[in-house]
Amino acid sequence: MAKGKYTHARSLGKKLSTFTLVLITFSILTLILMLLLSLGIVYLPTISDDSSVADLSAFRRKTISESDEGLVEKQKQWTEVLSWEPRAFVYHNFLSKEECEYLISLAKPHMVKSSVVDSKTGKSTESRVRTSSGMFLKRGKDKIIQKIEKRIADFTFIPVENGEGLQVLHYEVGQKYEPHYDYFVDEFNTKNGGQRVATVLMYLSDVEEGGETVFPAAKANFSSVPWWNDLSECARKGLSVKPKMGDALLFWSMRPDATLDPSSLHGGCPVIRGNKWSSTKWMHLEEFKV
Ligand SMILES: *[C@@H]1O[C@H](CO)[C@@H](O)[C@H](O)[C@H]1NC(C)=O
Repeated sequence: MAKGKYTHARSLGKKLSTFTLVLITFSILTLILMLLLSLGIVYLPTISDDSSVADLSAFRRKTISESDEGLVEKQKQWTEVLSWEPRAFVYHNFLSKEECEYLISLAKPHMVKSSVVDSKTGKSTESRVRTSSGMFLKRGKDKIIQKIEKRIADFTFIPVENGEGLQVLHYEVGQKYEPHYDYFVDEFNTKNGGQRVATVLMYLSDVEEGGETVFPAAKANFSSVPWWNDLSECARKGLSVKPKMGDALLFWSMRPDATLDPSSLHGGCPVIRGNKWSSTKWMHLEEFKV
């Protein structure tokens, strides 16, 4: 009898210790899971009402709904990779004809001879390397400008606040902009917003002949572009884009590792026939105060 009782007690103790062991293991696992959750290493699946977060069609929907307002006419839009050195892309029909005409009409009465920025003083000086005329439109100046600036931000993934005001430029026959960099190598010009990261150059008019944007330091077979035969002599010295009303050219002055990209050297070829109107948006690393 006594022996049987003893055995019973022992097996109870064994059962208890197994139970305790499972409990301790469970507690430890729970603690580990809580730790992982709090560190953000593990996520609990959640059901969210905001399905647009991971819905990639939202961007497309947005571009379609955007074209219902403003001066955007429905025209086929597509992007094209021009080169990876420099990183350059063309967005076809980025602006509508009406938007191009609007920008020209705003700028036309206020055009002044273009200058270049003096790297020592930061002051603007007249120059022979840049013979166009131009003017700046204040960032967020009106509804139409705001829409264009928002579209640039959506295209480049650089916030509107990082951009300088749009500059509108006019080149007449013979006028040009010699190859240069958009980034700065001095301290003065990087005080506001830091270094320039990227540029969007929008063509507001067609040009009958000349006026191409040329990248003379691009690492590409220049002559393989389909429009090679239509290019001026100047444009054949590099990888070139022919101005077309409404098209936008995006190129990066910095590489993805944030170093300056010398292959972003670019110029405006002399206009041979017609008139060239363009608009430039320079974008900085940080907010550009206006
Ligand atoms: C450059 O492209 C042209 C036109 O496609 C071709 O004829 C030529 O062989 C290419 N040159 C090189 C070095 O690949």
